[in-house]
Amino acid sequence: MDIISQLNKFTKEFNLYAKKFMLSYKNDSILYRSMNYGLMNGGKRIRPFVICEFSKQLKINKKNYMRLAIATELVHSYSLIHDDLPAMDDDDFRRGKLTTHKKFGEGIGILAGNSLLTLAFEILTESATHKSLSVRLKLIEELSKLTGYRGLAGGQADDLMVSENPKSLTKKQIIKIHEDKTAKLFEYCLISTLFLKQRFNSSTMKDVRKFGRNFGMIFQATDDLLDFQVSKSSKNKLDGPNILQHMTCDSVRIYCERLADECTEKSVYFSDSKNKLNKLIYGIIDRKI
Ligand code: IPE
Ligand code: IPE
Ligand code: MG
Ligand code: MG
Repeated sequence: MDIISQLNKFTKEFNLYAKKFMLSYKNDSILYRSMNYGLMNGGKRIRPFVICEFSKQLKINKKNYMRLAIATELVHSYSLIHDDLPAMDDDDFRRGKLTTHKKFGEGIGILAGNSLLTLAFEILTESATHKSLSVRLKLIEELSKLTGYRGLAGGQADDLMVSENPKSLTKKQIIKIHEDKTAKLFEYCLISTLFLKQRFNSSTMKDVRKFGRNFGMIFQATDDLLDFQVSKSSKNKLDGPNILQHMTCDSVRIYCERLADECTEKSVYFSDSKNKLNKLIYGIIDRKI
């Protein structure tokens, strides 16, 4: 089975786990329903897949890594709910379904995003995630740094500020936005898994961070490519800054291959072409979804 088919299989398995996991937090509120809707309406689950594959490679206990995987997906879901709000990208549909704010109203949509984010932190504080308090603290510290104003939220803010006039952006500025809004959460997937294994050696951390960051850069560049192809075929305007403003489709491919080579060639964990994450980083360059 190729790696993308493995991801598709994993998506179904993870959805079952996520559904069950969320039931353990269930209450009767509209807020809970909206959180569950934002989490459960059709994502690919690529971030959890990356965490699970690296965890298997490191022989981490499934009970621990699945909690890390769901916490990370909650953060991703929050970011998309807020990204779709009228004050941001103002989208009515995501993955072919109504966006959370369209279904539940704008106020509840904002709160659903906030609550998914805080639930992620709650999960990471619990001893079931890892028995060591200092490991849990590292997981939380890293998530705060990579998703806050110097990370995902910062990238979203920059994206927002320039979306009015994306054509004026330099390639360097677009790459910085990609790094912050997307790549840093992928960096988190990799580095947090290493923390679960309690590996804090600085050169190992550097290697693993680099892989996560480059993986995220490729993922966002190919997202831009997919958006560009849709906008070309349907005459829709591109939403915001897009790497295709500075590169041709072929040069995006070359750029992605260089990013993948750069973080795999000398890597302790990911250099083997039989390694799952090695296959995935090259596999996503051609992704169609
Ligand atoms: C979409 O992410 C937003 C980006 C960071 C490019 P995904 O493509 O992972 O979204 P879903 O969850 O699979 O829909
Ligand atoms: C999604 O970004 C949100 C984050 C990366 C945090 P985009 O606005 O570029 O992605 P889509 O097209 O809505 O999925
Ligand atoms: Mg956006
Ligand atoms: Mg958007």
